[in-house]
Amino acid sequence: MQTLKVAAIQNQPEFGNIKANLHDLIGLLPPECDLAVLPELCATGYQFRDRDELRSMAEIIAPDQEPGPITSRLTDVASASGTTIIAGVAELAAGSSENGLEDTSEKIFNSSVLIRPDGTREIYRKIHLFLDEKKIFDAGDLGFSVVEACGIKVGMMICFDWIFPEAARTLALMGAQVLAHPSNLVLPYCPEAMITRSLENRVFSLTANRIGREMRSDSPLEFIGLSQVVSPSGQLMARLGNNETGAATATINIVETDKKITAANDIFADRRPQYYR
Ligand code: ACM
Repeated sequence: MQTLKVAAIQNQPEFGNIKANLHDLIGLLPPECDLAVLPELCATGYQFRDRDELRSMAEIIAPDQEPGPITSRLTDVASASGTTIIAGVAELAAGSSENGLEDTSEKIFNSSVLIRPDGTREIYRKIHLFLDEKKIFDAGDLGFSVVEACGIKVGMMICFDWIFPEAARTLALMGAQVLAHPSNLVLPYCPEAMITRSLENRVFSLTANRIGREMRSDSPLEFIGLSQVVSPSGQLMARLGNNETGAATATINIVETDKKITAANDIFADRRPQYYR
């Protein structure tokens, strides 16, 4: 039996006040936690006015480079606490080499970084951008991946990825046992939908959202909170309200991610992909 203490952290960042936002986030981490997921763009805020403003707060997070200030600070915290931390960060990166062609132009991704207590890192770059994100971020170019951390297999997705069932399905088919889902949700549907994503893939999901409002353009945004932990049988193990900061915590048993749902049914072995279009 493998049990872990997990948490989805819910904060209320003040736009651009990275130092104070990091301080608040770190204060919300529960003790003796194996895995903590923080919201999307957790320390900067969400509603950047333009690409220049975004660039001024974006940082390097790639595992083979010296990281920026948010990632460095969270690396220290992961090391001191023994907690694997997953956090949404605006990522400054050089272009990738898709199609074998080197692209050295600047890229800024809406990313999440997984930081292990030993200081090693993994990254995910948001594939499905939401609303005005399309104007200022580059769409993720690394695909989905599943990584080992704290003794389990973790798949990362970010916020609006939830509405594409392919995201959670792809991660689960790759072996993810836990979906780590940093979010800045404004539409009301995701918390209920993630119950189905967990159930149909028999995985745990940790959705970490924020609360509060941002009014930095003509379209103010209100974030819905409701950070949660859901079990592979669709049980809501923990959920915060829509107007509180804190940590939704649960003790999870990885054995429950077994795909056998009845004596005769394994939900992955029973798939009939030849009929799926
Ligand atoms: C979102 O993807 N931040 C809604």
